[in-house]
Amino acid sequence: MPPLYALLILFSAFVVICTDAAPELDPCAVIGGKKWVAPADVRACFSSFKVNQTIKNNILDVVGKTLAFHVLTNYEIKAPEPFTADVHEDLFKDLARIENTSYASDYDLHIDVSRTLKRLNDGHCVWANACYVCLNRLTAAFLNFLPIPLVLLTQEDGSQNIYIAPEAFEVASAEFSDKIAVWQDALPLALKGKLESLSGAKVVLINGKPPFDAVNTNALITGSYQPFGTRQSSFFSSYGLPDTTFSYVLGDFAQQPLPLDDSVDLVIQRVHQTTLDNITLPYRSRLNPTTVPFKSSATYRANNCVPVDGTNGVDLNAVSLAASLGPSPAAKFQQAPVPSSRKHKMNVMMDTVPVSDISLPPGLQPSALALNASFGGGAFFMQKDGKTGVLVLGSFSGDDLDVMQDGLLKGLLTLKEQGATQLIVDVTNNGGGFICAADWLHRIIIGPKNTTIPGAGLDTKARAAPLARLVVQAIADDPNLDPFQALLYNPLNRTNANNVQFSATDNWLLPPVNLEINGHADSFSPRLGAECPPGPNGFAFTPPDAALFNASKVVIVSNGRCASSCALFSVTMAKEEGVKTVFVGGKNDVKQEYCGTVGGQSTDYSTLDTDIKTTHLKTNSLAPPDLLVNGVQGITWRSSFGVRDAQQPEEFQDHPVDLNLSLTPDLVNNPVAIWEVVAAKFFV
Ligand SMILES: *[C@@H]1O[C@H](CO)[C@@H](O)[C@H](O)[C@H]1NC(C)=O
Ligand SMILES: *[C@@H]1O[C@H](CO)[C@@H](O)[C@H](O)[C@H]1NC(C)=O
Ligand SMILES: *[C@@H]1O[C@H](CO)[C@@H](O)[C@H](O)[C@H]1NC(C)=O
Ligand SMILES: *[C@@H]1O[C@H](CO)[C@@H](O)[C@H](O)[C@H]1NC(C)=O
Ligand SMILES: *[C@@H]1O[C@H](CO)[C@@H](O)[C@H](O)[C@H]1NC(C)=O
Ligand SMILES: *[C@@H]1O[C@H](CO)[C@@H](O)[C@H](O)[C@H]1NC(C)=O
Ligand SMILES: *[C@@H]1O[C@H](CO)[C@@H](O)[C@H](O)[C@H]1NC(C)=O
Ligand SMILES: *[C@@H]1O[C@H](CO)[C@@H](O)[C@H](O)[C@H]1NC(C)=O
Repeated sequence: MPPLYALLILFSAFVVICTDAAPELDPCAVIGGKKWVAPADVRACFSSFKVNQTIKNNILDVVGKTLAFHVLTNYEIKAPEPFTADVHEDLFKDLARIENTSYASDYDLHIDVSRTLKRLNDGHCVWANACYVCLNRLTAAFLNFLPIPLVLLTQEDGSQNIYIAPEAFEVASAEFSDKIAVWQDALPLALKGKLESLSGAKVVLINGKPPFDAVNTNALITGSYQPFGTRQSSFFSSYGLPDTTFSYVLGDFAQQPLPLDDSVDLVIQRVHQTTLDNITLPYRSRLNPTTVPFKSSATYRANNCVPVDGTNGVDLNAVSLAASLGPSPAAKFQQAPVPSSRKHKMNVMMDTVPVSDISLPPGLQPSALALNASFGGGAFFMQKDGKTGVLVLGSFSGDDLDVMQDGLLKGLLTLKEQGATQLIVDVTNNGGGFICAADWLHRIIIGPKNTTIPGAGLDTKARAAPLARLVVQAIADDPNLDPFQALLYNPLNRTNANNVQFSATDNWLLPPVNLEINGHADSFSPRLGAECPPGPNGFAFTPPDAALFNASKVVIVSNGRCASSCALFSVTMAKEEGVKTVFVGGKNDVKQEYCGTVGGQSTDYSTLDTDIKTTHLKTNSLAPPDLLVNGVQGITWRSSFGVRDAQQPEEFQDHPVDLNLSLTPDLVNNPVAIWEVVAAKFFV
């Protein structure tokens, strides 16, 4: 028994003697003040929070009423092909089921609500509760780790197997230097202390079953992307460029956002060995160092589980404008750097798996000189061939839209000056960001033509729910309600399909477009434009008057995890300009898509609540009540119309790749090696 545990039992025995208080040990006290703990102990803490019926009703009420603004709610009951098998979630049926279910703990309730939303496989429409996941974009309160990230590799004969990543030990020993001994000691006798010898091992069985059973089971709960192949890929490790340095993403096997598993049994074949080894490795949960220290259930809950500034919206006329225009609370769950204000239109994933702050090992980092990118999430490289320029774009939200647009243009011009005639855009793990940065990048690469003027974005629509119409009508009736045009629903911030700005008094949701979607009557706004006008809210600079690259000399590369604004960029480049796309590392009998979670503009409950409160509609029975927990419900607020079928959402139209690029030990997690193969395949 660990000494602290023993001490706490002693202490609680003492309490029993001295008082009449309940003699129960506080399970959160067991993990309080420690950096590394057993996942079972985190679960014991989380599971000790009983369901509070008031809070349960409140969460279901807020989520349910916020969904009235989510434009895809009825579409997602049954998506058309090719996503019918991937997206078939009737949220209202499931929320009614949850309302009727009793849960052993608030943690069990959280898992059910969260997974119900995740079954949409829509990274915009996610429920996150900081009591259990992701307190900010870098770290959750606890993350559950194994030191052996996995990869999917292909042999010369085309056969595919799962392996422990060749770089696993290098990554784990650097990131978990204070814990690695525990895993070294957990290995069976013959391998004790030899964790390094597991790197590159073939994985024969996971928990006694073929490894793809575990991959596919995870694909059912990981959420975020409609395509099954992309959700399979989430299991494996990958690289990313979330801000200024390349990161190593461990993948869902080696990093769990919740303390789900205690250990894993593996049968592996190590490199150069003919015999198999059976190993059991424990998961260990690490406390995020920025979590406010806690000693008890009461302090844990007070610091993580109750509403904070920004959880709910504000009446803009009752608070200072500066305070109200800070980052949106959903920003802390978004898969991208946090922009310093919410003034620009965003289309970005919410992810309860935090952005990785683990570095890509030095041997895998591009060693060629990176040209300076003056914005986060982007880097430019010139390949050794002197012809291929590479733009790595890990995110569409640098900290400022203007700086990002300027940086993208300068970087591409520098590549051209250095002789680049062909361009690889690597958008691996790009969760989106500024809509107008995506539009701008397309415009400057392709130049002026009928697909890029006035903008390269897609037309959109919002949902014309009854409360949304009242919000717009209130602003239209009294523009003084929103003198700084800070509200999402302000007509002045919207344009019609001809890209003409609405006037201050237009109710732009009228006349509604009434449709029946999956048997449900629904109403949408008239068709809206893509909304990236010249000026600070759209194109901050004058774009060049000629293409920077020939579309036939541009290739977009990713692991499928390219969402939101990244999806808008990739879809329009591929479908309108014929730019080729590559999926790296997929299972070779699964059809892969080059993006997922397209959307058009994303937002969240708190932002909507500001519109509702500022227009004095909070007392309307359709308005969500104030949230009583530290949570966020994200939504797709506008949905983009398709390129091929211009009457249906692009969300559920096909995005097939031009190349399935299999990974070998030389290529995996090695961006430069991948770019060389891509250049050789596409540019002759
Ligand atoms: C349930 O939550 C509400 C709202 O936070 C609180 O007022 C109430 O005291 C809680 N009930 C119990 C039994 O803890
Ligand atoms: C909820 O439970 C009641 C009583 O058990 C049952 O009659 C009702 O059909 C249930 N509703 C749903 C949506 O499951
Ligand atoms: C290793 O695991 C496999 C499959 O679970 C089992 O059949 C075998 O008996 C195990 N071997 C040893 C030595 O434990
Ligand atoms: C609306 O437009 C104004 C003026 O162009 C801009 O300052 C503001 O940031 C925009 N607001 C939103 C919510 O898009
Ligand atoms: C990037 O900028 C820094 C500081 O301005 C400069 O020292 C460095 O040489 C630049 N690197 C490249 C590759 O241009
Ligand atoms: C754009 O121009 C191309 C020819 O350059 C033409 O085929 C296409 O129909 C035009 N598209 C639109 C929307 O006008
Ligand atoms: C782009 O490349 C294609 C194929 O090589 C060529 O036919 C076309 O002329 C090029 N366009 C421009 C504008 O250079
Ligand atoms: C990629 O692989 C899938 C699944 O095997 C296949 O259906 C598709 O045709 C492949 N695409 C290309 C361009 O080879």
